[in-house]
Amino acid sequence: MAKIHLFVPLFALIHAAILYPTVAARVVPLPLPVPTNNNQEQTLSSIFDTSKYGILQLNNGLAQAPPMGWNSWNFFACDINETVIKETGTFHFDLLAIKYRLSWHCSEFHGLKFRDSGTFESLVSSNADDCWSTLRRDSKGQLVPDPETFPSGIRALADYVHGKGLKLGIYSDAGAFTCQVRPGSLFHENDDAEIFASWEVDYLKYDNCFNLGIDPKKRYPPMRDALNVTGRTIFYSLCDWGVDDPALWAGKVGNSWRTTDDINDTWARSALHVLNYFNPVHTALVLSESPHAKTPCMYQNSLSPPPKCLLLLPSPFHFSSMTTIADLNNKWAAYAGPGGWNDPDMLEVGNGGMTYPEYRAHFSIWALMKAPLLIGCDVRNMTAETYNILTNEEVIGVNQDKLGVQGRKVHVAEDGCSEERSNDLTTWFVGLDFLQVWAGPLSGNRLAVALWNRCSKAKTIKAAWDALGLESSTSVSVRDLWKHQDVLRDAVASFSAQVDAHGCEMYIFTPQSVSRSDI
Ligand code: GLA
Repeated sequence: MAKIHLFVPLFALIHAAILYPTVAARVVPLPLPVPTNNNQEQTLSSIFDTSKYGILQLNNGLAQAPPMGWNSWNFFACDINETVIKETGTFHFDLLAIKYRLSWHCSEFHGLKFRDSGTFESLVSSNADDCWSTLRRDSKGQLVPDPETFPSGIRALADYVHGKGLKLGIYSDAGAFTCQVRPGSLFHENDDAEIFASWEVDYLKYDNCFNLGIDPKKRYPPMRDALNVTGRTIFYSLCDWGVDDPALWAGKVGNSWRTTDDINDTWARSALHVLNYFNPVHTALVLSESPHAKTPCMYQNSLSPPPKCLLLLPSPFHFSSMTTIADLNNKWAAYAGPGGWNDPDMLEVGNGGMTYPEYRAHFSIWALMKAPLLIGCDVRNMTAETYNILTNEEVIGVNQDKLGVQGRKVHVAEDGCSEERSNDLTTWFVGLDFLQVWAGPLSGNRLAVALWNRCSKAKTIKAAWDALGLESSTSVSVRDLWKHQDVLRDAVASFSAQVDAHGCEMYIFTPQSVSRSDI
């Protein structure tokens, strides 16, 4: 999709500065216990840095666990209507949400208040993305649902979705227009928040197109304040594509913030993308057209990136592959926590661009990174494989764990499939980082561990205790979250498993002798 950006006229900057003074955020720190004299705790805390955990949060009572739900964009794009949202709500509820609810009730999830209309700690929502409104506001300046595609209006849709026990999400933009050139909410925040609240909307995704070049730190808080004024509890999801590193400031503004450009339903960039990327004509085009598209180079190895990595991507490619996004989001792990989450964009599982092992890896890593789990496929027509991935209760349990610490990449072994470097241009440039161990602490002194094979051959991946912050003598019981089996009772020093090409195995490790107290 094309994104068009207008450069800021001086008056707009002045206007923004006058209209939007900083509003004090309600901040409640949620620190992890500071390690004292215990070596184990110190090692854990140095690997899983949580120094920023909770210190920046908005504390509007929402998002104690990452949100879960469905969003229309990845599959339907602009081709949405109320029937799609309703049918999805029905299917979502019957096929997915009931299963989610059962799992929340029977394990250690953070107690979703599933049918409450008031506050909720997690959220299962049906979200209409761009294109739900008419091309213009009405004569009173109000947003209007498209009468052809949403003839019953948004309030009726909310009633229907609420009747299914779900929340309803809607979309707008912190700019003059949305990305598909519907009216945006910039300078209309109060009116739009009020109308969203009157329609009983529960969730707002707030995009970044046509932003007039105004600093996102000035454009996003006014909608937070406008939503607060309505008195309705509305989850506020910032979608500024990672511009100006929102992890550093958005916790005081909303409940989640996109850390990257749009996800694409691909494992990695193709050779075509790489070649275009090095094409100076395309690069020049992008430089003049799209100031936001500053997605860094895909070269994610430990070597320094070549200088071209700082150039912008060609205009048709304003998106990032799944592996790229995982790596970009990983950088901000220390800033996530209950109340505010890094958002590496919605799930592509089931949309057809990746293989089963790749989709399983996508879901595992998103769950471990405490990302919002927003399904992006047509749930009315899921395959059994897609359904099995999206309803894996144990993997969802990692995502919804009450400790709320984002898991991260803790080890990379580059020697596993280095032969690919010389043979495959794409792999060389894309820098797939080969054999990876990702991990994160869970409540109950447990660890979530993912072995992710980013090589294109099956490989054995080893998680050594030092990479996980465990002492080598610690005995660990290991549960496999995809096989749903306890596979070892007393692993010591390391754990290894064979992982399919591009696949990901995921485990919960329960150390027998970690003295870190449960949270
Ligand atoms: C942007 C967002 C996407 C989607 C589209 C809709 O690109 O990043 O997630 O909402 O706009 O136009």
